[in-house]
Amino acid sequence: MYSDKVMDHFTNPRNVGEIENADGVGEVGNASCGDIMKIFLKVDENVITDVKFKTFGCGAAIATSSMVTEMAIGKTIEEALALTNQAVSEALDGLPAQKMHCSNLAADALHEAIKNYRGKSA
Ligand code: FES
Repeated sequence: MYSDKVMDHFTNPRNVGEIENADGVGEVGNASCGDIMKIFLKVDENVITDVKFKTFGCGAAIATSSMVTEMAIGKTIEEALALTNQAVSEALDGLPAQKMHCSNLAADALHEAIKNYRGKSA
């Protein structure tokens, strides 16, 4: 039921952990299941240089978290803000319909971390 990419990112998630002295931190919760995702950013001259995540959630939430970190690293703040939840699930070759709500955490947490970064750097 899951694509090979989802299984790969679930069993071998990239960029797990925390960033000390992160430039931005974002946390979102999924109201329907109670799962939580937290994203940490390092930003240098408007470019995201590092992203780490901690997710307390299902396999689909972990896979989308992992994928969003890979997609965001190296992007400008504006490019990262344009990343959508749909783009993340497409990059994973899709998620089962009943798991689509899990993918909502990933880009949302990234956007929250960017908002936090912008608030700090303003
Ligand atoms: Fe909660 Fe997937 S079941 S994020």
